[in-house]
Amino acid sequence: MSDALSSIDPAVNNLREYLETLFTADDELLQSLVRETYAKTEHPRMLGDRWLCTFMEWLIVTHSVQRILELGTFTGYTTLRLARALGDAGKITTIESSMQHADIAEKYFVKDGRTKQINLLRGTVREQLPNLVGCDYDLVYVDADKAEYPEYLRLLEPLLHVGSIIVADNVLWGGKTCSPSVGDARTRALRAFNLALFADPSYKTTLLPAGDGVIVATKITEQDSV
Ligand SMILES: C[S@@+](CC[C@H](N)C(=O)[O-])C[C@H]1O[C@@H](n2cnc3c(N)ncnc32)[C@H](O)[C@@H]1O
Repeated sequence: MSDALSSIDPAVNNLREYLETLFTADDELLQSLVRETYAKTEHPRMLGDRWLCTFMEWLIVTHSVQRILELGTFTGYTTLRLARALGDAGKITTIESSMQHADIAEKYFVKDGRTKQINLLRGTVREQLPNLVGCDYDLVYVDADKAEYPEYLRLLEPLLHVGSIIVADNVLWGGKTCSPSVGDARTRALRAFNLALFADPSYKTTLLPAGDGVIVATKITEQDSV
């Protein structure tokens, strides 16, 4: 649903429409969440991209993912999609700094009977990540403040094991990341984040130029053993 790339390439709109003919339609609960998000939030287009949800659902199934950490819950669309794909044995922790967004998300987590499976942490990523040391995650979905992505990478390090996968959304930022003339703080942070992952030999990294740009990195060795 975030479609910044469509502003630079109209063919992306055709692609989105075509993909919608392939994807499974949302059930009534998810449709209701989407309606409420459009009715009550200022930036409803922050809702999780349906293509990216299917990609992470595929990762969950093909990589036996059981523990997920999401940075930036918004109203919980992606959280619910991932929780459902995990099945009852899997758990997801999700962090959200806006109480308004967290309240809507929590309402739908309750409606879907998933309060034991989803751990919603209210606060900033910076506040909450240090409290999670001792936990480790198979999949981390980075989707909070773009200006803080490089810092998230440092804070995430103790929460990852060899085989952990990082998926980060919006890394092309509507094309700004690859426009040399653009130099605002968020764009610079995203460039630094992308470079840090590609330059780090303890990760195997790729960037998917789909949606708003998605980086996918798998931790392949511990940092100090390289
Ligand atoms: C792009 S939306 C997340 C979309 C969600 N992951 C999904 O797929 O539906 C970003 C969310 O991150 C939250 N956010 C922004 N900065 C944050 C921070 N520093 N810590 C925690 N949440 C933050 C915003 O309030 C917003 O709800």
